[in-house]
Amino acid sequence: MNVLLIGGGGREHAMAWKIAQSSLLDELHVLPGNPGTVRHGRPASFDLNDQEALCAFLLDKKIRIVVVGPEGPLVEGLHDRIADDPRLSGVTVIGPRKEGARLEGSKEFAKEFMLRHNIPTAAFRAFRKGELTEAIAHLDRMRPPYVLKADGLAAGKGVIITSERKEAEQVLKEMLEGGRFGTAGERVVIEQFLDGVELSAFLITDGSAFKMLPSAKDYKRVGDGDTGPNTGGMGAVSPVPFADKDFMQKVHDRIAAPTVRGLRAEGIPYQGFLFMGLMNVNGEPYVIEYNVRLGDPETQVILPRLRSDLLDLFEGIATGTLSERHVDVDDRTAVTVVLASEGYPGGHEKGRPIVGLDLVREAFVFQAGTKTLGEDLVTDGGRVLSVTSFGKDIEHAIANTYKSAALVAFEGRMFRSDIGHDLVRKPTLVKGGAS
Ligand code: AMP
Ligand code: GLY
Repeated sequence: MNVLLIGGGGREHAMAWKIAQSSLLDELHVLPGNPGTVRHGRPASFDLNDQEALCAFLLDKKIRIVVVGPEGPLVEGLHDRIADDPRLSGVTVIGPRKEGARLEGSKEFAKEFMLRHNIPTAAFRAFRKGELTEAIAHLDRMRPPYVLKADGLAAGKGVIITSERKEAEQVLKEMLEGGRFGTAGERVVIEQFLDGVELSAFLITDGSAFKMLPSAKDYKRVGDGDTGPNTGGMGAVSPVPFADKDFMQKVHDRIAAPTVRGLRAEGIPYQGFLFMGLMNVNGEPYVIEYNVRLGDPETQVILPRLRSDLLDLFEGIATGTLSERHVDVDDRTAVTVVLASEGYPGGHEKGRPIVGLDLVREAFVFQAGTKTLGEDLVTDGGRVLSVTSFGKDIEHAIANTYKSAALVAFEGRMFRSDIGHDLVRKPTLVKGGAS
């Protein structure tokens, strides 16, 4: 079958790499892709917003499956435009329609959905433009730290957590009245602070059956020890050691199953991936957020561990037979570290030559912010690439990944040196031992 993959980051490079291994694949096209994806599929270039161009491409290339990497096109209704065009009736989209994409596109919608279906999440109240007084009064009922969230998509920057009452008031004012985060901030969710450890769970669904994918933990802050500003993600580990069988069973029973069932019960068609951002509070999972796609860089550790054929799972979605397919996962641990440009997530230089990729033999290098310039590969973004390796346990996976990452160099290369360190088993303290 012929496939069109949409996106151009490290996640899409990992998806292209995985799809290219499928025995079911005839041709893979990637829009726009990056210098990493061209090894696995042909770069496409047309305007996704132009319905005629989209339709012409899908028909001309005989595309059966459109895989959408990032959330933007889903929230904007790409799936609906394909599904509702009678000329494209043979095309299956991996990713939900606009209505289902609201799970990510609107925090208020997601919170109310969870409330309706008894899915564990932090208690919350939502406020709109014009309700600043009520929102500030609500802070009196909350214990700090205050968690304030812009309702709409804000490129991962729409969540402010502060223990300072004055700052919380200021943020509410800026969002509800000052246009901070634009229209995304015109509605605000104030929620209870959850004290725990974060991790992510993923599933794939055809709308009735679903299969869990491997768990992962990402590292969002730019600096070692979780310091500095939030980023798209600086590294990831899969599986998450504390997400043991018991914990994942709770995630399956209390979160994944009621979410898929709830969508179905509400008549919201949903097919594709669902990313559940979770907090483990004393062994109990709570949902922090839903994303309607895979994560970046979580995909760079999940897909290398997936033994099953990804196109077979997509075929299961296309034909509504996902329940008959198998998700087979490699037992080893995968760790990925993102090599970024100095200055990221703020301003950074571009066009710096990247060397050493040919030296990497025992890891996968997934490209993101890269570009070819003549014969050279150069940096072209904040997150330049990510290096993924395996180990029989987390210690070995960390060591293997950093050994390979050290081979890839460019001026201003910056990376976290502690990916996975918090998950390494600490030596047990022996009671009554020598002091
Ligand atoms: P989100 O964009 O919803 O994933 O939130 C960004 C980050 O804020 C999360 O990754 C968490 O670290 C943190 N966060 C969000 N909601 C809460 C909450 N209710 N309690 C504690 N931390 C939270
Ligand atoms: N790494 C977090 C995300 O993809 O949203």
